[in-house]
Amino acid sequence: MKRLFKNIGILAGVNAGGLLRKCGSQMDDAGLLKNAWLLSDGWQIAAFGTAADSLPTADEVVDCEGGMLMPAFCDSHTHIVYAGGREGEFIDKINGLSYAEIAARGGGILNSADRLHETPEEVLYANAVERLIEMNYQGTGAVEIKSGYGLNPTDEIRMLQVIDRIKAHSPSVVKSTFLGAHAVGRGYSHEDYVFAVCQMMTEAAHLADFVDVFCEKGFFTVEDTARILETGKKHGLRPKIHANQLSASGGVQVGVKYGALSVDHLEQAGDDEIAALKDSDTIATMLPGSSFFLGLPYGKARAFIDAGLPVALASDFNPGSAPSGDMRFVMALGCIKMKLTPERAFNAVTINGAYAMGVSDITGSIAAGKRADLILTRPGWDLTKMVYLHQTPYIRQVYLAGEPL
Ligand code: NIG
Ligand code: FE
Repeated sequence: MKRLFKNIGILAGVNAGGLLRKCGSQMDDAGLLKNAWLLSDGWQIAAFGTAADSLPTADEVVDCEGGMLMPAFCDSHTHIVYAGGREGEFIDKINGLSYAEIAARGGGILNSADRLHETPEEVLYANAVERLIEMNYQGTGAVEIKSGYGLNPTDEIRMLQVIDRIKAHSPSVVKSTFLGAHAVGRGYSHEDYVFAVCQMMTEAAHLADFVDVFCEKGFFTVEDTARILETGKKHGLRPKIHANQLSASGGVQVGVKYGALSVDHLEQAGDDEIAALKDSDTIATMLPGSSFFLGLPYGKARAFIDAGLPVALASDFNPGSAPSGDMRFVMALGCIKMKLTPERAFNAVTINGAYAMGVSDITGSIAAGKRADLILTRPGWDLTKMVYLHQTPYIRQVYLAGEPL
């Protein structure tokens, strides 16, 4: 079915150069076309142009009445398969405990693992789908989902199976990451658990697209990370790692060394990490929602971009450090807290987010042949207004693979 979007006030995210990611000053260009139209044909974008062209014929016409049409968000880092919330820890945090202190007491990730262990697959699936549908209505069209609350062979694989089922049934683009090394599972010594994660890799590799390690003081060392990434790579899994969230962990450097697609968090990263990322294919991904929720410093996104690097922003949606998948809020935090311009924040949550999960060839920007994953705003909205009035409803309709939600 052909659908014509006419009277588009601003078409954002036009990718004329066939770019797969935007680096440095390329992020200043949001690919804007004013007074435009766009034609979708089935699941893909067929053509687009400006009002001066004669409009193509279509089976259905959507009058955008001057609204903005932009690519749906690409959220490259989430943990949306989890069992129950962690409201108790939320109150502990309000009363002064830090994220690291809660983890050291056996709470945090281990708390989620205990709950997941008791939760049937059906319930895990239903809860994750509910979260994803909410994210879709908030404009997210592509999502990466991690395991990491199983922390034993059975439950880690169960999580990956749940993600696989979501992949098969959701209209979203879904990528899956094996994060067995999220915390040391209960009943294991540190050494034994690292070994067990490497053992899990064979089965995990049948289900996952990427391998991840929480490279952080109190979790996994650079040496553990190297060992796990190497095993993952042998099984065809490209790394995407958690690095430099709470300390300068060396995670960025080890990630780049093993050809990571992305290194994520980077709250504690500066010149050394910028130097390590220069001339690599690895993208820096920052997660301002977790800085917001935990009251931690924000990544220096502006410095990374000024140094010529690409930056992606993602939600990190999880029950412990970022219980929200709202990518417009992530964009707003990028602007308000990380001093990104709306154009840079927009590129960080669309094309660069898509790159960070290996899907920028199929979604995350406007080009013929790409998936018609689109957000249509109400009339009169633009990128600046979207983040400035960051609490005001602005979405008129989300389309995934050409179909309205
Ligand atoms: O990215 N930092 C490690 N992992 C998650 C939090 C997981 C949790 O607390 O449940 C994150 O912030
Ligand atoms: Fe995370």
